[in-house]
Amino acid sequence: MRETSQVESGVAENHAIAIGSEAHRQLFCHMLLDSFDPYRPAVIAWPSLAPEALARLVGLPFWDIAVATEERAARRMEALAGACEDPLIQEAVALNAWEERRHKEVLGHMIRHYGIGLKDETPYIAIPDPEWGFLRTGYGECFDSFFAFGLFALARESGFFPAPLVEVFEPIVQEEARHNLFFVNWVAYTRFNRGLPARVKLDLQRVAALAVQAWGRLAVARGVDDKNFTRTGGEAVGLTLKPRQFFALCAREQERRMARYDSRLLRPRIMPRVARMLSHVLPA
Ligand SMILES: [Fe+2]
Ligand SMILES: [Fe+2]
Repeated sequence: MRETSQVESGVAENHAIAIGSEAHRQLFCHMLLDSFDPYRPAVIAWPSLAPEALARLVGLPFWDIAVATEERAARRMEALAGACEDPLIQEAVALNAWEERRHKEVLGHMIRHYGIGLKDETPYIAIPDPEWGFLRTGYGECFDSFFAFGLFALARESGFFPAPLVEVFEPIVQEEARHNLFFVNWVAYTRFNRGLPARVKLDLQRVAALAVQAWGRLAVARGVDDKNFTRTGGEAVGLTLKPRQFFALCAREQERRMARYDSRLLRPRIMPRVARMLSHVLPA
């Protein structure tokens, strides 16, 4: 077996499954397909909120970005599903796209129900290479989900939002964990089954996608970009943890959310590694 690259994930020791094999393909595709949650946005019972909770919700600074991100993810995944030659992978990617569209639908219902004001949505600009688009979105989701897992746990613990509202969003957050898991396994499987020139191209695209997504988020963190999803989100939910504790919480939450899926699948590893590295340099 060729060695699987570990840009996006580490190969767990003692794997009983060969990464890149037919068994791996079945496992990561069926992980997504068989764990589908059939909730329906149109029948969500939105809880009534006390005036302060409603003001907090309406005042969160990231609803425009969240809606645009779901639309972009759905479009990019639909493009990859359209280009897929493998019917099983195509089915799984198409489901992933459908779930992103459902996330946008949930947000739409919530926005209308609570009267949240949004700017006009900027039109989506298609990316000609579907794999490049999927890599961009996949790594972006891995970064964003890592922080979202921690922020969600904080919001739940702090009572920042009433429990019924937190529960409405629980399936969405868990879906992102499934998407991250599918993505890192798709990358490893696809890479393994490519000939040398196509593998080199994929690797270059992966590094570029990681760099673009990481830069975008660093720019946000340094305040040079006002599309400030995670940082303003943290401030908005009253994040008072020190950065080191917050990173550790995010890593724990990611592990907890991934634990319910087959342990033979690769896990997203970049952000937990970054968190571990930072734990040596950030003040306790
Ligand atoms: Fe989503
Ligand atoms: Fe997703």
